[in-house]
Amino acid sequence: MEPLLDTFGRPLETLRVSITDRCNFRCVYCMPKEVFGRDYAFLERQELLSLEEIERVVRVFAQLGVRTVRITGGEPLVRRNVEHLVELLGAIPGLELALTTNGALLPQKAAALAQAGLDRVTVSLDSVDDATFKALNDVDFPVDRVLAGIDAAEAAGLRVKVNAVVKRGANDDGIVALAERFRNTPHTLRFIEYMDVGSSNGWRLDDVVPAEEIVECIDAVWPLEPLPLVRPDDTSRRWRYRDGAGEVGVIASVTKPFCGGCSRARLSAEGKLYTCLFAAKGHDLREPLRSGASDGELAESIRGVWHKRSDRYSDLRTADTAALPKVEMSYIGG
Ligand code: GTP
Ligand code: 5AD
Ligand code: SF4
Ligand code: SF4
Repeated sequence: MEPLLDTFGRPLETLRVSITDRCNFRCVYCMPKEVFGRDYAFLERQELLSLEEIERVVRVFAQLGVRTVRITGGEPLVRRNVEHLVELLGAIPGLELALTTNGALLPQKAAALAQAGLDRVTVSLDSVDDATFKALNDVDFPVDRVLAGIDAAEAAGLRVKVNAVVKRGANDDGIVALAERFRNTPHTLRFIEYMDVGSSNGWRLDDVVPAEEIVECIDAVWPLEPLPLVRPDDTSRRWRYRDGAGEVGVIASVTKPFCGGCSRARLSAEGKLYTCLFAAKGHDLREPLRSGASDGELAESIRGVWHKRSDRYSDLRTADTAALPKVEMSYIGG
C-alpha cells in the first residue's frame, strides 16, 4: 500500500485516543475549577465512543500505518473497564500500547493493565513537594499516592515515564528535587514547557520556563550531556547524567517546537479525528461508524483527512508569537 503522507510528507504513525473528558483532578493549568465546576457539561455516555467502537477505529488506523497508540483523557483510568479496552487493542497485531495518567488510580489498576497487555505508562507528576502538588491538582490529592502508583506500575512490569509540566512561579523551584527523585531509577523523567493548550488556562508566555533554563538548572547540580533522538517524531530531547545516574528529558513545545516530524493524530472521546493538538475543528468518525460505514469507507475518510493535513501550530506560534490570534480550543485532554 502507498504510504500515507500529509502535505509536508509526514507519515501517520501515532494515534492518541482520548477515552473520557472527565478527570478526578482539577489541575489549575488544565481543568480549573472555575470552568470545570459542578455545572460543567461533560459528555454523556452515549456521546462517547464505546470500547468496541474505539477498537474498530484503532484497527483501521493500524491498517493505515499507526504503530503506537496512546490512551489519554481527561484521566483515562476513570473510564469504567479501561482494562478491557487495553485487552481489545492488545489483540491488534504490531501495536505498541501506552497510556498517559495522573497516577491516582494506578495502585489499584497497574497490575490489571499490565496483564491486559499495556506496554508502558506515562505518569504526570509536577512536583514531589506535597503542598505544591496539592495546590496544582486542586483536589488535595497527596503526592505519596502518585508515587505509590509509579511503584505499582514498576512492580507490574510496565515501563514508566514521568511528565512534569513546569509553570513559572508554581513549581519551578522544585525542578532539582524532581530530578533527584528519579535519578538512579529506571523511570525517564521529562520536563515539559507549559503550553497554551487546554480550556481557558490563561496562558502567558511569561509562565513558560524555557527547556534550556530547566537543563541549566539540573546541569548546575549534576552535569548533563545530550543524547541523540530515538525517533524522528520524538517530543522530548534527551540528556544523560554524566555520573551515570540515567537520563532526563525536556519537551520544548514552546521554545523549540517539533511540528516538522509530527506524525500524531488524535481521536477525541466523542469520536472526532484531530490532526493537531491545537486544531479547533475535528472530523467526525462517530456518525459514519454508527450508520454502518465499512472499514474501507472509514479508512478512505481518514486517508483523505491526513492527506490534506498542513498543521504546524507550534512552529508558527513560535515564529511569531505576537501576530497569531489565540485559538479557542474545542478539544481538551492529553
Ligand atoms: P512518548 O511516546 O512516551 O514520547 O509520549 P509523548 O511525549 O508523545 O506523549 P505524552 O502524553 O507523554 O506528552 C508529553 C507532552 O508533550 C505533553 O505536554 C503533551 O501535551 C505534549 N505533546 C504530545 N504530543 C504533542 C504534539 O503532537 N504537539 C505538541 N505541541 N505537544 C505534544
Ligand atoms: N502544557 C504542557 N503540558 C500540559 N499537560 C496538560 N496541560 C498542559 C499544558 N498546558 C500535560 C499533562 C500530561 C500530558 C499529557 O500533558 O500534565 O502529562
Ligand atoms: Fe486531569 Fe491531567 Fe488535566 Fe490534571 S493535567 S486536570 S490530571 S487531565
Ligand atoms: Fe503536531 Fe500540532 Fe503539536 Fe505541531 S502543534 S507538533 S503539528 S500536534
